[in-house]
Amino acid sequence: MTFNPLKEKGMSLDKQLRNWHQIAGKPYNKNEVYCYTRTRQILMNGIEIEGWGFKHQFNRFVNELDLEDRQIISRIGRIENTQQITNNWMCPEDQSVLETTLGYEQVAVDLTAWLAQNEPDKYVKEVFDFGLLEDFDHLYRYAQFAYTREGIKPSDIVQGQTDVIIGRPTQHHHNCNGLRLRKHYDKSTTSPQTKVNILTVLSGEQQTHNFYAEHGFMYGDHVLRETYAEIKDVEEEHVTMYESLIDPSETMWEKLLLHEFTEVCNYYTCMEDEVEERIKKYWEICLDMELGHLQIASEMFKKYEKRDPEEIIGSEIVIPCRFLSQKDYVQKVLEKEVNKRLAANGEFYKSYEEIPEDWASYAVQEKVAEISAPSENCIRVAEIYHDRDIVEAKDSLMNKETQILDRGLQEKAVAHNTVMPDELEEMIENHERREDEKEKLI
Ligand SMILES: [Fe+2]
Ligand SMILES: [Fe+2]
Ligand SMILES: [Fe+2]
Ligand SMILES: [Fe+2]
Repeated sequence: MTFNPLKEKGMSLDKQLRNWHQIAGKPYNKNEVYCYTRTRQILMNGIEIEGWGFKHQFNRFVNELDLEDRQIISRIGRIENTQQITNNWMCPEDQSVLETTLGYEQVAVDLTAWLAQNEPDKYVKEVFDFGLLEDFDHLYRYAQFAYTREGIKPSDIVQGQTDVIIGRPTQHHHNCNGLRLRKHYDKSTTSPQTKVNILTVLSGEQQTHNFYAEHGFMYGDHVLRETYAEIKDVEEEHVTMYESLIDPSETMWEKLLLHEFTEVCNYYTCMEDEVEERIKKYWEICLDMELGHLQIASEMFKKYEKRDPEEIIGSEIVIPCRFLSQKDYVQKVLEKEVNKRLAANGEFYKSYEEIPEDWASYAVQEKVAEISAPSENCIRVAEIYHDRDIVEAKDSLMNKETQILDRGLQEKAVAHNTVMPDELEEMIENHERREDEKEKLI
């Protein structure tokens, strides 16, 4: 049975304001929460931040609407604000910044992998696969600090659902931002699925950027501070990359419809998938609210654009965020595309060997890592504590770590403190030898 959100009335706007007790909500227990409940909570915070921010942009930039409708937009913006609080504040006070960070990167990996496999547009899929390998490496870099600073193993957060191992090295994610710009879709021929997919991942990446911006300074360790600064800047590139896929000729009315539709689709999926009863009920309430927003957006669309909302969002729900383990898919992309790089005009180089000498990103990479690359130092920190880097992955991937590093590292603009493949190999051997020695002691 298909579900057509445009046929649903949803909750009336007059009934959507909740009391402070409901708005502030109740946190989950970080030791008991299912990792994909946490990823839903993190993603839906990002979705609401985007929904709230968009209402403000709307009222700042749209001239042609009467006062009554402008008031309705501002009332909806307030509701997005209250949903954002409830979503974000499910996160408990004892979940450290690093633990939450691992959650953010798990969202990025497993969401982007899902989207890539369910994306009808081949070009957009390629962009998703490209971003996927970068967030996959961020997860690995942060995992080094989570273990060395706080004794947190990756499985404490990702619960074995997501592999944590080296990807395309973070030091090579820094580009001339102009190169991040991809080709945008054509709004008149692109499916609602593609539009919702892009807005979903964009909202997640934007909030990841904001989270690092607001929390990266909270650790005194300068290597960790610098790593947050480094990865935050990559998230800025991700925002640039994903937003550039959107047709800039979309009107603000089309965008309003797409924003509410994206919220509907995401809450619908959350409600279907949620395993925790209390939170499932809350997703259901939010879905009802968003159906109410969508009704309003669609009436305004008819009034001001004099067009049928179905032209933009179709007549059925789309699924943008099924959180599932994506290990096999990620490994496949990793082995195939770890050496891929960005080319101009929205193209890709299949491998760094094809890059011309004057590639605009070399200058950026050389400048930012002229002292050192923090994302490389994190492996060196882990070596002190653990003889080698912190990894948790299935055997077929674990055995290939140095090969992946070897293929992922460029030849030019490599930071002087880079852990080279032979050095990593040596760390792994040392670790194994010492583990054997420890066993004999017991
Ligand atoms: Fe919302
Ligand atoms: Fe990331
Ligand atoms: Fe990202
Ligand atoms: Fe909404």
